[in-house]
Amino acid sequence: MSSPVRLPSISFVVARSSPAHIIGVDNKLPWHLRTDLQRFRKITLGHVILMGRSTFDSIGRPLPGRMNIILSRRPANDQESSIWTSPDTSLFWSRGPEDAMYLADILSLAAERKEFFVIGGEQMYQLFSNLGNRVHLTEVFAPLPREAGDAHFDREFDRRKWKVLFEEDVPSGPNDEYASRYTVYDRKTKTVRYIELEDYFTSGSDKRRWISDQYIKIRNSVAQGSLPEPEYQYRMFEEQDPAGN
Ligand SMILES: NC(=O)c1ccc[n+]([C@@H]2O[C@H](COP(=O)([O-])OP(=O)(O)OC[C@H]3O[C@@H](n4cnc5c(N)ncnc54)[C@H](OP(=O)(O)O)[C@@H]3O)[C@@H](O)[C@H]2O)c1
Repeated sequence: MSSPVRLPSISFVVARSSPAHIIGVDNKLPWHLRTDLQRFRKITLGHVILMGRSTFDSIGRPLPGRMNIILSRRPANDQESSIWTSPDTSLFWSRGPEDAMYLADILSLAAERKEFFVIGGEQMYQLFSNLGNRVHLTEVFAPLPREAGDAHFDREFDRRKWKVLFEEDVPSGPNDEYASRYTVYDRKTKTVRYIELEDYFTSGSDKRRWISDQYIKIRNSVAQGSLPEPEYQYRMFEEQDPAGN
């Protein structure tokens, strides 16, 4: 017999210009917003963050206090290889969404985190668009024409499908180039990913042992310079918001 075990939920963090929906130009953010960077840090600290290789190049280093997973179709070079020297800050190179999600799931479960974050850029938001249940969106009131950017985030948040959990206006100040609005959207029908585990793995301590085994396998592959292979295939179901609103 087996029982379903839930995998972590996927959330996005994104800042885009309003109304043109620009998120980047020349592989950089087109603004400086200290309040938003501080909020980004607070939301993601201690979690797995998943990003495309261009965004990683743009940041230039693994973000501290987070487990950084980079998606790239090409092998990592020596400077980019996966590193796991501290439990706090780590870097994992991954070949595609399934590998990345396996890493993100096990690292999140091991850290007792119920969600992980897709932090960009445009290609990553598209790749995971059907799986994201929550979006932390900053609308930056920057009067930029659409052509001023080369990366965009065009998702619309239909109020029949998304509910607003939180909203806050941030005026422009000495450290924030533009005024902005921060909104947290939650999908009313969530995509739940799960795996079937043998019943004897689903009680508390056995589940921990299963997570710990997976974690050690990942650790060993990184130590040997190879990329961890997913050990399971997840399944999905749709779950309605219990509040029904
Ligand atoms: N405003 C914001 O909130 C925000 C957040 C993050 C980023 N950004 C901006 O967004 C821009 C970058 O976005 P982007 O769309 O150009 O790049 P990206 O999504 O950061 O990275 C694209 C790269 O990801 C890898 N990739 C894509 N699909 C893959 C797949 N299926 N399997 C394996 N690897 C895959 C490829 O790397 P390889 O070429 O190595 O194969 C690809 O070139 C920058 O301007 C950045 O500043 C803005």
